[in-house]
Amino acid sequence: MTMFNWFKNSAPSSPNEGLLATKADQKGLKPKFHSLTLKEVRHEAIDAVVLTFNQPDSDAFRYIPGQYLTLRATIDGAEVRRSYSLCSSPLSGELSVAIKQVEGGIFSTWANRHLKPGDRLDVMNPMGNFVLETDPSKHRRYVGFAAGSGITPVLSIIKTALQREPESEFLLFYGNRKTTSILFKNDLEDLKDRFMGRFEVHHVLSREDQGSDALFGRLDADRIRYFMEHIPTVASADSYFLCGPEPMIHAASDVLKAAGVPQDRIHFELFTSSVPAAEAPKSAAKKSSGDASVTVILDGEETHFTQSAKEFLLDAALDAGADVPYACKGAVCCTCRAKVIEGTVEMAMNYSLTDDEVAEGYVLTCQAMPRSERLVVSYDA
Ligand code: FES
Repeated sequence: MTMFNWFKNSAPSSPNEGLLATKADQKGLKPKFHSLTLKEVRHEAIDAVVLTFNQPDSDAFRYIPGQYLTLRATIDGAEVRRSYSLCSSPLSGELSVAIKQVEGGIFSTWANRHLKPGDRLDVMNPMGNFVLETDPSKHRRYVGFAAGSGITPVLSIIKTALQREPESEFLLFYGNRKTTSILFKNDLEDLKDRFMGRFEVHHVLSREDQGSDALFGRLDADRIRYFMEHIPTVASADSYFLCGPEPMIHAASDVLKAAGVPQDRIHFELFTSSVPAAEAPKSAAKKSSGDASVTVILDGEETHFTQSAKEFLLDAALDAGADVPYACKGAVCCTCRAKVIEGTVEMAMNYSLTDDEVAEGYVLTCQAMPRSERLVVSYDA
């Protein structure tokens, strides 16, 4: 190895390397709310705000790029919880989430209109499986497909990968309606300048002709296939990060799989403003006619109750008085994860548990219904 290569491969020193967590660091870390103070509230666009929190002294808020925070507030007398992806890189020392205001969105409207520096909010420690664990010795090529506010976790991943892996490259396709709806446009331009030759972004706009047919329209299956076939570096990436509405994720995932990309190289996070409530699987009533006797273990304490086979475990546990963790109640955030110790359940939807987690017995309790007469589930496992 030449001296030149040795220097190229060395990890850049960062005073904030300590905020970078690994999956191993977070193993066994339980979801818990902490009261944090807002350091900065920046309007990123007319309908989007970036909240930056003061870092607490504890290690609880070290994070892996791509993770999210769950925020809790009382709005008009009702408790509201929402999960928002971190847009900052842990290497920057910042803890920032972006909140795009959605029509009729209680939390997003409140956050965009009323929050100011100095306000305190209940914030759950960082969570989520849509992550990149960087390795300074690796030379990797990443490709991202993001749409709308789905850019948020991808931005954290891009910033961290480019800074921490000095030889890696990132190619991003980012779908929006028009130039004015592009979130983090300036940040993306700055990254292009700072990491010249290692970061490229192509804006795909559905309502604005940029003079290129390839970039005019939706980020759909045909367009993604076109990029795969015409840009050699897209087809040969080491990892793909997909984040946006469900149709875009399915389109990108299907095209990648059809092109022979192995599943373990495709990472995705469903990013949508409203997740429809799950319906009980049709088999519910047939397989179990009666109630189930359930024990939920949380922080070493047991809560016992009976529930219907048609009711979600999380709702039943909350009704029984257990302070079990949750955020989206829509199979997306994974905050409600617990392990089945005894008995069986059936999940209506799952967008966030990995295949390995499911194989180990983990379930999303907001989606799980009992399929045995006795059920023991632990949030501590
Ligand atoms: S609460 Fe989000 S997946 Fe269950």
